Amino acid sequence: MKVLVACEYSGTVRDAFIRAGHEAMSCDMLPTDKPGPHYKGDVRDVLGCHWDLMICHPPCTHLAVSGAAWFERKKASGVQDEALDFVRLLLDCKIQRICLENPISIISTRIRKPDQIIHPWQYGHPEKKATCLWLKGLPLLRPTKDVKEEMMALPKGKRERLHYLPPSVDRWKLRSVTFQGFADAMADQWGVDSGSNLV
Ligand SMILES: C[S@@+](CC[C@H](N)C(=O)[O-])C[C@H]1O[C@@H](n2cnc3c(N)ncnc32)[C@H](O)[C@@H]1O
Repeated sequence: MKVLVACEYSGTVRDAFIRAGHEAMSCDMLPTDKPGPHYKGDVRDVLGCHWDLMICHPPCTHLAVSGAAWFERKKASGVQDEALDFVRLLLDCKIQRICLENPISIISTRIRKPDQIIHPWQYGHPEKKATCLWLKGLPLLRPTKDVKEEMMALPKGKRERLHYLPPSVDRWKLRSVTFQGFADAMADQWGVDSGSNLV
């Protein structure tokens, strides 16, 4: 399968698909953190290259509801509409199977509700972070390892590690890397013929 992982600098999802035997390439305006097939540039340049599947992680800076305090300013400056247009472009592109990932955001009210909301604790990471998936031509992602009990035994600061990360230059990067458990589940479940139950 030819897989495009759009808006990914970490190589996490790309490498999970490569390990599962696929031809995968990541694409980001930033260079890749790990060596591997990567296009450094605008994803619009490579969208038309005959992909079987695209997993995309567009920026949530102007969309996530956690930033609602700044929404009025963002609306007025037009950056929010621009971010929504980018999401529409990705969702509407001519690739048969698409997964678009974002936190709880205004995509739900301005474009459409997500097909699924997943958490890292359903995929082996004892942490909370509601992650929405908008799917096209793919089945829902099945949880792989439920560690909710283990997570609930942890102090809140550990359970919500990303929320409580101290300020730093790379805070946004640390917060945005895809969980390995999500990436492995995507490669294992979506790297095969998805059959029925498609969204
Ligand atoms: C929220 S981060 C996603 C990070 C991803 N989860 C990972 O593990 O690497 C969003 C990324 O989108 C990239 N981006 C923004 N606009 C882009 C575009 N037009 N083409 C390609 N990448 C873009 C940004 O550089 C940023 O790294």
